[in-house]
Amino acid sequence: MSRAAVFPGSFDPMTNAHLDVARRSAMLFDRLIIGVLQNPRKTPVFPIEQRVELIRASVVTFGDHVEVSAFAGLTVDFARRNGAGFIVRGLRAVSDFEAELQMAHTNRKLADQVDTVFLTSALEFGYLSSSLTREVAQFGGDVSGMVPEPVATALRERFRSEG
Ligand code: PNS
Repeated sequence: MSRAAVFPGSFDPMTNAHLDVARRSAMLFDRLIIGVLQNPRKTPVFPIEQRVELIRASVVTFGDHVEVSAFAGLTVDFARRNGAGFIVRGLRAVSDFEAELQMAHTNRKLADQVDTVFLTSALEFGYLSSSLTREVAQFGGDVSGMVPEPVATALRERFRSEG
């Protein structure tokens, strides 16, 4: 039996915590589709196409069974379209759990054939978030070690002129 999972997120930008979850999920599933949410209510630092490209560049060594695509709408519909029976989410700390549990229950209510699987983030990345990474980069801080190299380069480019 072939097991496919989606790993959905905003990924604005992908951090090393996300990358670690993606790497470990790629070892657990026969197909992993990283889904980048296109949310019309948010103005991201990186447009959707660039977020997809940056993730592709970051996961290039994980194998051909790992794909990256943009999606809009419900995560469970994205999972169904891709024939995936699992949604992967990372947990950095207990504080993540409440919201993640609520999302998992909602998704199961919407599609009871799709299960959510939680992976705990590697301890050294437990402090990382996309929003703090954006802030550090915006004010000229060093984000290497927080994000994959392609993302660090893109953040430096993006905020070069703002200082
Ligand atoms: O990286 P994020 O912002 O924590 O990811 C949140 C995400 C994209 C997984 C969540 O907002 C989501 O699934 N959005 C799609 C809309 C949806 O399916 N909503 C109902 C389930 S909670």
